[in-house]
Amino acid sequence: MLNFKNQPLKMSFEANIKYALCLCGESKKFPLCDGSHRSTDKNPFKFTLTKAEDINVCQCGKSKILPHCDGSHFK
Ligand code: FES
Repeated sequence: MLNFKNQPLKMSFEANIKYALCLCGESKKFPLCDGSHRSTDKNPFKFTLTKAEDINVCQCGKSKILPHCDGSHFK
């Protein structure tokens, strides 16, 4: 089941923690990766922030500025 949504999700992230954003749409922890992509040909988008930040996280998987939403879900 693909979990992609046509809207961002505001989430809080800590500094200096490795995060992985799901780009396969199969994660049960969507929009974060839970390793479900191993049965697909997709990989997560991995990122680390230098300061704690609230982010409007892309949930459509099309943003050019991951993990941030860039409005691509409207296109
Ligand atoms: S579970 Fe979807 S990219 Fe990892």
